[in-house]
Amino acid sequence: MAQRPFHHYLIDMTAATPPRNLFVTTALPYANGKFHIGHMMEYIQADIWVRFQRMRGHNVHWVCADDTHGAPIMIAAEKAGKSPQEFVAEIAAGRKQYLDGFHLSVNHWHTTDSPENVALAQDIYKKLKAAGFIFSKTIEQFYDPVKGMFLPDRYIKGECPKCGAKDQYGDSCENCGAVYAPTDLKNPYSTLSGATPEMRSSEHFFFKLSDPKCVEFLRHWTTSKDRHGVPRLQSEIIAKTKDWLGEDGKMGDWDISRDAPYFGIPIPDAPGKFFYVWLDAPVGYLAALKSYFDLGKAKAGGELRSFDEFMAAADTEQIHFIGKDIAYFHVLFWPAMLKFAGYKTPDSVNVHGFIQMGGEKMSKSRGTGVDPLKYLELGMNPEWMRYYIAAKLNANVEDFDFTAEDFMARVNSDLIGKFVNIASRTAGFLHKHFDGKVAADESSASAFPHTAVGQHAEEIAKLFEGREFGKALRRIMEMADVVNGYYDVSKPWELAKLAAAGDSTARTNLHAVCSHVMESFRLLSILLAPVLPELSKRAFEFLALPPQTWADTSKPMPAGHAIRAYQHLMSRVEEKQLDALLGVLADTPESKKSEKSTKPESPKNGASSGNASGKPIASGVQAGAASANVSDNGIIGIDDFTKIDLRIAKIVNAEHVDGSDKLLRLTLDVGEVDANGKQKLRNVFSGIKSAYAPESLIGQLTVVVANLAPRKMKFGVSEGMVLAASGKADDNSTGLFLLNPHAGAQPGMKVS
Ligand code: 2FM
Ligand code: ZN
Repeated sequence: MAQRPFHHYLIDMTAATPPRNLFVTTALPYANGKFHIGHMMEYIQADIWVRFQRMRGHNVHWVCADDTHGAPIMIAAEKAGKSPQEFVAEIAAGRKQYLDGFHLSVNHWHTTDSPENVALAQDIYKKLKAAGFIFSKTIEQFYDPVKGMFLPDRYIKGECPKCGAKDQYGDSCENCGAVYAPTDLKNPYSTLSGATPEMRSSEHFFFKLSDPKCVEFLRHWTTSKDRHGVPRLQSEIIAKTKDWLGEDGKMGDWDISRDAPYFGIPIPDAPGKFFYVWLDAPVGYLAALKSYFDLGKAKAGGELRSFDEFMAAADTEQIHFIGKDIAYFHVLFWPAMLKFAGYKTPDSVNVHGFIQMGGEKMSKSRGTGVDPLKYLELGMNPEWMRYYIAAKLNANVEDFDFTAEDFMARVNSDLIGKFVNIASRTAGFLHKHFDGKVAADESSASAFPHTAVGQHAEEIAKLFEGREFGKALRRIMEMADVVNGYYDVSKPWELAKLAAAGDSTARTNLHAVCSHVMESFRLLSILLAPVLPELSKRAFEFLALPPQTWADTSKPMPAGHAIRAYQHLMSRVEEKQLDALLGVLADTPESKKSEKSTKPESPKNGASSGNASGKPIASGVQAGAASANVSDNGIIGIDDFTKIDLRIAKIVNAEHVDGSDKLLRLTLDVGEVDANGKQKLRNVFSGIKSAYAPESLIGQLTVVVANLAPRKMKFGVSEGMVLAASGKADDNSTGLFLLNPHAGAQPGMKVS
């Protein structure tokens, strides 16, 4: 018999270290828009890490919240005719569908516009002030006399002081690349009112980051190791902090106040002054955790200490997950604030890069990319995305590119072709020959040489711990290859034939092979569980086992254990699903224009739209029909043609329609499956009765317009249209010819 796939049960998890107490956060998203795929990537990264820690028996409290304050949200709310509170509440109500949809196990979702955050932000401020880290000074700033407010730089435009280009932002020129201050702009104007801003002075409060104590602390904190001896920051970030802190150790002081009107937290003893949003946003991590404790949610999870006790405990680890764009705030301002206010400082800050498409950052403001909600609405499996993102992630601050081809290959070839396949090809033998039971004696299922899987499990654990998810999945898939290779060379199908003919050795071998393979499937399901929680859950149900933890990698399935009948575990991703998901990304003039229209508008450029024609811009999928451009001579562009989804269909049944002398009812296989992986057939009525006897069509291939809106007819709903040529345009009776592809075409193939 071939060598057995794994050798395991080496690690004795009972000897594991005491549980860690982990306070984990993900960056608080601004409450002015929907989630984009970049948000989901960060949450998926954190979720995999958190689920892994929980499987290892550690206590994890993962909290997040909406980041609600600041001028942009205040202005957006005003534009929407709502109070800022109403505005952010509506955004908050939309979060759950994403969190549940992608199986994100965040323990509590809170808001920075909360009493906890007010109390904590004010407390930190007072302590910083008492320690001598706060000072005030009067500064000059642009003021919009029409709006009655000081203008953040982003709301000031004007002519470039260098090249004279019009409508440039206050920091740099998009035309010549010059960098300058807003006060350098010629003919500046407020993008909020169009008014010419005036210089006015006002008292601002500053956090004294330039204090030598602060610089010294940051030099040490950024380069030191956490309690496990791991650097608390990645090497790329350490290099950056060296740069930011400068050779001379001169940090600029940080302006932490804003003048009313401002949606934010009032500064104590300073009427009309509010904390700048970036002061109270990270405090929102603590506020979210406090609310989670105060609501009893921590207690329900077995944590009996209060928030204050938990934060004061020496073994509490505070771990942040963030994107590279906000590293500055998290590795300099935030630890310094905490340190000099006498609070606990973070243990580590894990920084990730961006998910890109075609080398460009996907972001909500540009309206490009994979829309996570659309992904879910299309019925695409969230675990495909979790798997794909995990496969692309490592512990470095690197960007990666999303491509449809890569996505399909990882999901279909690896996840389904290698992993799911193991269970589906083995279960039948166990059920047919052994009542679904794994082998009962020591010489078979539980007798793998006791070396490798245990080691693999620990190796995989180290990779998960170190956020090397791509490497972990590669190693797991290599193991799946080994299992499949073992299955192939063991030829259970031949053993089954011999066993059926009465060969008892073949029967014993068949049982051993299938039991080893099923046990390997169980082990792989455990290793994949942090990435694929639902799939693993269903795998354990199929195996008739309780939810498995990491410790279960060292305990074999009980001898003679009976598994359940195989249930379909996961479908393959189809190209057309990715087409539908990415369809709105087509590089059409419309999509280009609508990108622009999301930028803040200059009132000097005209009213409400960034497009030159002034025509309204259709957006998203709905753009389809409305924006199809048929020129006068009937010529359409390729964009319009590709909107028609032509597919090869197999006519699996054809019959007369009672009461109709024109129609045949066709049952078509267009290569589709439903959510459970079952074949899905379409019903199409076709006016070809005059030309074809229904029986003659059964088994034939033809071409169907697959994305035609379903049409309700007297006889039922028609779900598409088959293509036929007709001799005379208006007279079907004299010749009608159903299109028929050449041999080799398969149902579901795209016709283009
Ligand atoms: O960049 C952002 O989206 C911010 N809302 C992140 C804040 S993270 C933390 F500081 F609250
Ligand atoms: Zn310029």
